[in-house]
Amino acid sequence: MRRLLIAGNWKMHKNKAEASAFAQELKGKISQLSENVDIAICAPFTQLDTLIEALGDEKRVLIGAQNAHYEDAGAFTGEISIPMLKEVGVDLLIIGHSERRQYFGETDETVNLKLKRILKEEDINPILCVGESLEIRESGEENSFVESQIVAAFKDISAEDAKRITVAYEPIWAIGTGKTASSQQAQDMCKVIRQKISDLYSDAVSDEVIIQYGGSVKPANAKELLSMEDIDGALVGGASLKVEDFVGICTAK
Ligand code: PGA
Repeated sequence: MRRLLIAGNWKMHKNKAEASAFAQELKGKISQLSENVDIAICAPFTQLDTLIEALGDEKRVLIGAQNAHYEDAGAFTGEISIPMLKEVGVDLLIIGHSERRQYFGETDETVNLKLKRILKEEDINPILCVGESLEIRESGEENSFVESQIVAAFKDISAEDAKRITVAYEPIWAIGTGKTASSQQAQDMCKVIRQKISDLYSDAVSDEVIIQYGGSVKPANAKELLSMEDIDGALVGGASLKVEDFVGICTAK
């Protein structure tokens, strides 16, 4: 039985004081959250220690980063390595978010290199983002496009490691636009992703992989999305910035 994973993606939002206030408020509400739901916040690098100090101890709230380099060290000005994040104590790492692919030159190849590096660390698990643009959806090529992202990302990854990858299906046209995919559209693509993982490995592997939907998830639409068979959680941008909305999503199912 797969657990639900609701992960907030703060993107480039919140200073230290705001992160700390969020953590204190969320802490006060943790008792409202079902034991069957895993919760995570993926924050900017500079706020990770604040969150880990405030929330990380009990591991009730997992703390994640939003990107890292695949090399451990070197002349890569402005980058952060996975060993550096391990030292800080992160549990999760978002890889291949569409904003990184669109604005920062992330490719299927670098996504694969990053995944392989993370999976060498026992205590950090990846959230791999995939998803098509509006143009691709309108051309009817969305399934083959997302399947090709999955094949490239999972290249040379063992079945045991593959189970540790959470996949977030995030149609680019639904991110930050207020335009959510319908629960059926989201379910259909999550099913395509699960089938592709089964083709690459086996049903036993694909049954264990957590697949999230992301793109304008809010308390009002979370219940319906999370009730779909192949949707095991959500990656939440805008609505993860307010504790009330985030907890509303975490308690929706
Ligand atoms: P959104 O972002 O919830 O603001 O649409 C989702 C994401 O980009 O992870």
